[in-house]
Amino acid sequence: MKYVNSNIESKNSDLHVIFAFEDNLSFSAKHGIKRAALDDITDSCKRGEIEGKAGEVNSFFSRLYEDNYIIAGLGKKKDLSIQIFEKSIKNILGKISSLKLTNILIDLSNITIKNVNLIQAAVIEIEKSLYNYNSNKKSSIKVCSIKTKNNITKADFSKTTLNALAIANGLNTARKLGDTPSNICNPTYLAREAKKLEKKNNKLKVEILNESQMKALKMNSLLSVSQGSDQPAKLVIIKYMPVKDKKPIVLVGKGITFDTGGISLKPASTMDEMKYDMSGAGSVIGTMQACAEMKLKNNVIGILACAENMPSGSATRPGDVYTSMSGIKIEILNTDAEGRLVLCDALTFAKKFKPRYVLDMATLTGACLVGLGKYPSGLFSNDEGLAKKIIKSADKTGDRVWQLPLYKEYFDELKTNFADIQNIGGRYGGAITAAAFLANFTESYKWAHLDIAGTAWETGINKGSTGRPVKLLTDFVMSN
Ligand code: BES
Ligand code: MN
Ligand code: ZN
Repeated sequence: MKYVNSNIESKNSDLHVIFAFEDNLSFSAKHGIKRAALDDITDSCKRGEIEGKAGEVNSFFSRLYEDNYIIAGLGKKKDLSIQIFEKSIKNILGKISSLKLTNILIDLSNITIKNVNLIQAAVIEIEKSLYNYNSNKKSSIKVCSIKTKNNITKADFSKTTLNALAIANGLNTARKLGDTPSNICNPTYLAREAKKLEKKNNKLKVEILNESQMKALKMNSLLSVSQGSDQPAKLVIIKYMPVKDKKPIVLVGKGITFDTGGISLKPASTMDEMKYDMSGAGSVIGTMQACAEMKLKNNVIGILACAENMPSGSATRPGDVYTSMSGIKIEILNTDAEGRLVLCDALTFAKKFKPRYVLDMATLTGACLVGLGKYPSGLFSNDEGLAKKIIKSADKTGDRVWQLPLYKEYFDELKTNFADIQNIGGRYGGAITAAAFLANFTESYKWAHLDIAGTAWETGINKGSTGRPVKLLTDFVMSN
């Protein structure tokens, strides 16, 4: 899709999209609406058909108007958020998907969200609509003109749209990986996909560690997870280091390509969704792709901890004890708490890069989903300054997070008389005890953990990867 700054360059369009607020419902010629249509739109308002409610989409398609119009509601002005705006764009695109439009104009001039953030959100939402796992949908729309409130320079507009395109491409990559079933998307596949990215982008360097190399590094915790599976584990390192002498941001992703629970087997219902248990790793690949594509001036390293969690004659048993790479001995009481077992070794491995910050992304606990629901990712950190920066990126991009505490008492729940630490806590606060487990391995650097169990994919009839938190991560690496 080509994006055009209509404040500077005007193109003919066959659809004109205008936004309306519940508490400011008036239209005039200054919206660029032609006479016949303006009369109909005004009548529609009077009849109460257009209310400006969030999510509402009213279309005015007629031969008589010369142009087609969509009036899309955004609710009350003061309640406007990136989420409401995105939802509106999504609804609009749904409404016009069957029409064979080629040029559309989106008028953002009455929306008060900061220009750059608004354009970015619009472009990403449009690009997201072009993703479909089963087919490569081609939109009939070729050009999308965007009109903004304050004038935006040609250079700023093109930079904003190009960055947004890079982010959207990375996000769609993460979605594709998440949606790919586990008989295809196994640890070796993820490693190959990373290698493919390296081929496309000479700024990315990819290194893959196999099981014997990990054994040599004493990554016994990670290897305990894959030992029941026929699929060998992989540790994938993706480096993007264009800047001299700057410590990197390290992104670590949980890459469990299928989580049966192992010997602590999961119940059958919705187990299929455990193909998404590599979504953390998928979001790291997507973010690395976006960094390289936008030629970001920052150093970023991605680490994917990839394994399949299976029960078998060679699988770990509850009660087994392994010594992790850090030297910390772990008693595995539940083989279904496997994410923390692969992450702890990857987090220890991350030290060697002398990181400025380490962020890990993981579909770590059902408890996070129970506690926070599907809208924010759970945020945990050992550094308040870092947590604030992440919250800032979340607010800006609409890729929401909610911070949870890491009080000392949670750490006490991991005590055992058979090792240094056990891999599960008590009955309550499971998302937090999981994060506390990880915190034992991250004391030497500034670290944050995002539990994306509730946000990485949608369920039911809309089942599919969301690509979260690629938007949050790309904004974080762009701003820090
Ligand atoms: N991948 C799951 C977490 C999960 C479950 C995410 C359902 C999204 C939906 C993780 O490996 C897991 O099984 N966690 C256990 C931990 C427990 C055994 C302490 C859980 O949440 O039940
Ligand atoms: Mn599990
Ligand atoms: Zn898991």
